[in-house]
Amino acid sequence: MTRKQPWAVTLEPGTHYICQCGKSQNPPFCDGSHEGTGKEPFPLEIREKQEVYLCGCLKSANLPFCDGSHEKEA
Ligand code: FES
Repeated sequence: MTRKQPWAVTLEPGTHYICQCGKSQNPPFCDGSHEGTGKEPFPLEIREKQEVYLCGCLKSANLPFCDGSHEKEA
């Protein structure tokens, strides 16, 4: 599931697997739905609890973070 806005999420310290295939039913996190797509989740390491803006359209040049690419019409 993709959308034209970022996902604002607060992440606890640890490794978070961020969906890069657009098929997860629990975006922005991987739920295993990428199987067979050739895509893999992005392992995002977080050291301190923080709010991040993760790409919702999967067109960012700085995945898994939003870079504003969702504003550009494809
Ligand atoms: S479900 Fe999309 S990368 Fe795993």
